[in-house]
Amino acid sequence: MVARLSRLLIATRNRDKLEEIRSILGDSSQDFVSLIDFPDMGEIVESGATLEENAFIKARAAFQRTGIPSIGDDTGLEVDALDGRPGVYSSRYAGENATYSRNVDKLLSEMKGVPPAERTARFRCVAALVGPGFEQSVDGVCEGVILEARRGDGGFGYDPVFFVQETGRTFAEMSLADKNGISHRGRAFRAMAELLKKLAVQPRG
Ligand code: IMP
Repeated sequence: MVARLSRLLIATRNRDKLEEIRSILGDSSQDFVSLIDFPDMGEIVESGATLEENAFIKARAAFQRTGIPSIGDDTGLEVDALDGRPGVYSSRYAGENATYSRNVDKLLSEMKGVPPAERTARFRCVAALVGPGFEQSVDGVCEGVILEARRGDGGFGYDPVFFVQETGRTFAEMSLADKNGISHRGRAFRAMAELLKKLAVQPRG
């Protein structure tokens, strides 16, 4: 269905995400480039109303501008006590260009007084693949609870307050390998690796 392709583009400039994605994809990730390799490409505006729309907006824009089959991904933290917020607005929760730390501060303040049993949340990641004549997406989910204070120094974003009950640790207390083993992004990108195999979109060996 799809010709063999020598390169894929991960449509992000976020180095935290790229480190995780390269680790999840393993050896073949040397054949992936990212938007960091295309410094002249303008910003891609994430104007979608859903994670899936944003993932496709990024992947389509990157493919159209470079001609390289592209993977766009978008992640949201869905907090039950906040009716699913911040969701698609996770990166801008505390305002445009908000830092990770300010977003976490806002989350902790909105969750003040919410009892432990009602602090359930999940990370959801959608990864979309766009190339010549094909568009497909996969997703991955990781369930957890929002702590009342930060724990751990690793990871990024909301990791210090996202506690995964089965492991007894926050994402920020896990090694990269442990986080990738259970995370939303790990699940989505392992599904993406399977999809790439099925489509015979194979990075050069
Ligand atoms: P993005 O769509 O992948 O850029 O993610 C949107 C926002 O969600 C980021 O700016 C982070 O604040 C947060 N986020 C995404 N992935 C993770 C993660 O693995 N851990 C913690 N926060 C994350």
